[in-house]
Amino acid sequence: MSALLKIEDLAVVFDTRAGTVEALRGVSLSLGRGETLGIVGESGSGKSVTAQAVMGLIDVPGRIAGGSISWDGQALVQDGAQQHPSGIWGKEVTMVFQSPMTSLNPLMTIGAQLEEVIRKHLGLGRAAARDHAAEMLAAVGISGARRRLDQYPHEFSGGMRQRVMIAMAIACEPKLLIADEPTTALDVTIQAQILELLAGLQERLGLSIILITHDLGIVAGLCHRVAVMYAGQIVETGSVDDIFDRPAHPYTQGLIRSTPRLDEPEDRLTAIEGTPPGLLHPPEGCAFRTRCPIARDDCRAPQALRPFGAGFVACTQPGVDAWGDGK
Ligand SMILES: Nc1ncnc2c1ncn2[C@@H]1O[C@H](COP(=O)(O)OP(=O)(O)OP(=O)(O)O)[C@@H](O)[C@H]1O
Ligand SMILES: [Mg+2]
Repeated sequence: MSALLKIEDLAVVFDTRAGTVEALRGVSLSLGRGETLGIVGESGSGKSVTAQAVMGLIDVPGRIAGGSISWDGQALVQDGAQQHPSGIWGKEVTMVFQSPMTSLNPLMTIGAQLEEVIRKHLGLGRAAARDHAAEMLAAVGISGARRRLDQYPHEFSGGMRQRVMIAMAIACEPKLLIADEPTTALDVTIQAQILELLAGLQERLGLSIILITHDLGIVAGLCHRVAVMYAGQIVETGSVDDIFDRPAHPYTQGLIRSTPRLDEPEDRLTAIEGTPPGLLHPPEGCAFRTRCPIARDDCRAPQALRPFGAGFVACTQPGVDAWGDGK
C-alpha cells in the first residue's frame, strides 16, 4: 500500500521555564489510503503532539526540532522546518479534538458553524451549504437534522456534540481524519455508536483514520494497525492481530495484560508499576527500562525500531514474555 501520510524521525520540543521538554523523540509512521491506525500509550507519551504536528498546530512554546512529514507527496514539515501548504489542513486532513466543548463556538448555531466550514472548503452557496450541513448531521446519526441546525452547542448532549464534531470534520470530504480520544468523555453505549459511525464513514468514504486512544479495546475493534508510544517514541508497531496475539515489547505486553477482557475476571488485571520518565531530561536508551522486568545493561543503548515478526519493535529482547506469566 502506498503511504499517503509519512512521518519521518519527527522531533518536537516545548521550551518551558524549567527547560526543554522533549515531547517527540524521533517518531516515524506511515498511513495508507483507507487504513485505520491506532496510536496508544499512557498519558504524556506524545499521542496528541503527534496529531498536532500533522495538523500544523505546533505553536509556541512548542516547536518542530527535526524530521519530516509529508502528505500525498507534499511536505508539511521538511528537515525540521514547518511548511505551509494550502488546501490540506481542514480540507484533506481534518481532526476531531480531545475536548469538543472547546472546539465548538458556544455563540453560533451548529448550522452556522457547519455551513462556514462547508462554504469555505467546498465553495458552495448559502442554500447548498445548508443542505449539505443537514446531510452531514444526518450522516452522523442526528435525527431531525434540519431543525437541529438552528440549535446552539449547549442544546446538544455530550455524545451529540461529539457527533457534530465528526460531522464538521467530514463535511469537506477529507481523506484523513484524526480523532484524538473521540469517545473518552462518553458513556459506553454512546462510545460504541460513535465508533460504529467512524467505521461506517471509513467504508463509505474510503477515509484514512488515525485514532488516538488509551483504550486497547477500541483499537482492537476499529484499527488495522497500531503504534504503541512511550515517552515520546514509538516502541512497537504492527497489525492489530499480531500485536494482540503476540505483543513483542514488554511495554505492549504490560498494556495488554492491564486491559480488561470480557472472558477474564477483573482481579487478573495488573497495572504496570511505576511512571514514565520525565521528558525534560529523558534517559539514554530504552525509556521503559526503569519499569521493565527484563531490563539489562544493553538497554541503556538507544533502541531503534527493528523488524520483528511482521512488525517493528524497539527492544533488546523482542518477543520474550517479560512478565513471565504468559498472559
Ligand atoms: N503546551 C505545552 N507545554 C509544555 N509541554 C507540553 C505542552 N503540550 C504538550 N507538552 C508535553 O508533551 C508531552 C506529550 O504530550 P501529549 O499531549 O502528546 O500526550 P498524550 O499522549 O496525548 O497524553 P494524554 O493521553 O494525556 O492526552 C507531555 O510530556 C507534555 O507534558
Ligand atoms: Mg492527548
